[in-house]
Amino acid sequence: MATITRSTAFLALAVVVLAIVGGTTAQQLSPNFYSKTCPKLSTIVRLGMAAAVRKEKRMGASILRMFFHDCFVNGCDGSILLDDMPSFTGEKGAGPNFMSVRGYEVIDAIKAQVEASCKATVSCADIVALAARDGVNLLGGPTWSVPLGRKDSRTASQSAANSNLPGPGSSLATLIAMFGSKNLSPRDMTALSGAHTIGRTQCQFFRGRIYTERNINGTFARLRRRGCPRSGGDSLLAPFDVQTPDGFDNAYYQNLVAQEGLLHSDQELFNGGSQDALVTQYSNNATQFSGDFVAAMIKMGNLRPSPGTPTEVRLNCRKVN
Ligand code: HEM
Repeated sequence: MATITRSTAFLALAVVVLAIVGGTTAQQLSPNFYSKTCPKLSTIVRLGMAAAVRKEKRMGASILRMFFHDCFVNGCDGSILLDDMPSFTGEKGAGPNFMSVRGYEVIDAIKAQVEASCKATVSCADIVALAARDGVNLLGGPTWSVPLGRKDSRTASQSAANSNLPGPGSSLATLIAMFGSKNLSPRDMTALSGAHTIGRTQCQFFRGRIYTERNINGTFARLRRRGCPRSGGDSLLAPFDVQTPDGFDNAYYQNLVAQEGLLHSDQELFNGGSQDALVTQYSNNATQFSGDFVAAMIKMGNLRPSPGTPTEVRLNCRKVN
């Protein structure tokens, strides 16, 4: 008995020592991270997002996309929010973000409110994570509790933003590989792509598909050609989902089954490949999609900067302290 107690004590000590030695590893995220230090946080973010979405429904989509583009570049660390500095060129100017990612001023406004209530406490990265969740929910999608405790980066990487984010011409193999490199499964990738049930995209990103591809519904292609000429009009917008452009539902998958995916990369998920069966399931079962989407959002939200990267709680999301 005494031996067991001693070995148990030794084991406990070893765990403590390991935890201290391994102290550089990031702390596990928790939904209660700010429950004592900033109890009003979720209300402040929610009100900020509600105001933004009331002004423009699309903003719910734009902030969701911002979260994806933050997390895929050195983890969810608010790096996308940094303006260019003398010491680095920021991610805002990277190909996938420039004149495309929007909503920075919405995050600034929420951050100002959060700072007024809880000074120097809440990271910009956590604000984006909460705001993305609220954007989804305000447009009729699910809600969930967001694990928190991220820190903000002290630098940004335009080159990583250029190489880590998938482009609209990506093949299924490329999409699977790029998400796989972030430890996200093909199923996670297909569920996360359901984000394209809301928001808009520019003509330049779907022109090739509507004029040259064959796996597209003819009526849909003609409709989209009307708003996207063969040349010029690069930034003209079209909704991803014709029926419910601002409603977070499973219509994206129904569109794919009908060959009405707007981007080439969208239709790749239903084009005779490995994701066809899952797309069909999601198209028939909104609850299954919703559950998988939430699980994948939490998984994506767990992407962290590599260990040892210096971090902080930024006071102004656009600048390092
Ligand atoms: C699977 C690979 C993906 C590709 C190739 C892709 C590509 C794109 C492109 C090209 C646009 C249009 C940008 C513009 O016109 O300026 C867009 C918009 C959008 N994307 Fe993705 N995306 C992908 C995955 C995701 C994921 C994982 C999410 C979030 C979980 C997401 C959320 C959105 C949203 C909500 C919009 C609309 C934004 C708005 O209206 O402001 N996308 N995406």
